[in-house]
Amino acid sequence: MRRAKISIIGAGNVGATTAHIAAIKGLGDITLLDISEGIPQGKALDISQAMPLEGVDAVIKGTNKYSDTAGSDICVITAGIPRKPGMSRDDLLKTNTEIVSQVSKGIREYSPDSIIIVVSNPLDAMVYVAHKVTGFSKERVIGMAGILDSARFRHLIASDLNVSEESVSALVLGGHGDQMMPMARLANVAGIPISHFMDNKKIEKIIESVRNGGIEIVNLLKTGSAYYAPASSVCEMIESIVKDKKKILPCAAYLDGEYGTKGVFMGVPVKLGSKGAEEIIEIALDENEMELFQTNAKNVKELMVKTGL
Ligand code: APR
Repeated sequence: MRRAKISIIGAGNVGATTAHIAAIKGLGDITLLDISEGIPQGKALDISQAMPLEGVDAVIKGTNKYSDTAGSDICVITAGIPRKPGMSRDDLLKTNTEIVSQVSKGIREYSPDSIIIVVSNPLDAMVYVAHKVTGFSKERVIGMAGILDSARFRHLIASDLNVSEESVSALVLGGHGDQMMPMARLANVAGIPISHFMDNKKIEKIIESVRNGGIEIVNLLKTGSAYYAPASSVCEMIESIVKDKKKILPCAAYLDGEYGTKGVFMGVPVKLGSKGAEEIIEIALDENEMELFQTNAKNVKELMVKTGL
């Protein structure tokens, strides 16, 4: 059986780390593409040389040419500039709209049947750009954000309670911005609601930390944004798609009336399988949650307009 072909466009911190983790997990053959000459080639060689040690047979190639990505099953877009201190995700909009548009054209030309995972920020708007430029169906253009925000939520709960990270399940809905929606009422430890373990004050504090999770790292790193947990999050999506696992994962998916929202990419639980976003799971939101979801949708729509597409 043919190995999946995974192309990662943008061989920077998130792209190269995604390639490394995906290679180690044996998810497929990997092509790393970047505009910067030598960088993708050097990183691909380095990752290739780790394969005998990891016991993985995979072809990992670095390139500056889209023709090398031809026929990809999955294309991950990690090209763009990352956030710097004092910069909001929205500040990135103009530059990254141009970059993601250019990348999307390359994908459209050489991998017209691929599934696209967008990582570049501001995420919800960049997924829209990729969808608009490629014209791919809504099932085949998905954004990575909710898994990362939910992993941050899970980690904060697990470390506070001193329990296994694996025992904690948590979900963040909405946009990948300051008003994201960590769903505390659904968070649980082995099926037991977190309210059994902690009071509201503690839960509120954790929610605040989840919302600030990205900026906290930006402020510490000073020269870039998070990449280890983002890369692990992308690999969770790649794995569910290439193995047709049909995991339910929070992803930025195109809403066509679900959650009372139309024509916007937002974070919702999605069934991810070989066809991409195969189903959107619509959970009942209470009045306050729905209001916040709509505020998120309005913010994303404003960004979409600013892309000029
Ligand atoms: N085509 C291909 N690659 C490009 C292009 C382009 N048009 N423009 C920029 N790049 C490449 C850069 O050369 C760089 O190697 O994208 C890479 C970005 O890497 P980093 O600067 O290390 O940024 P990173 O931390 O990986 O973040 C990438 O993901 O999480 C988001 O906000 C983040 O938008 C940012 C993106």
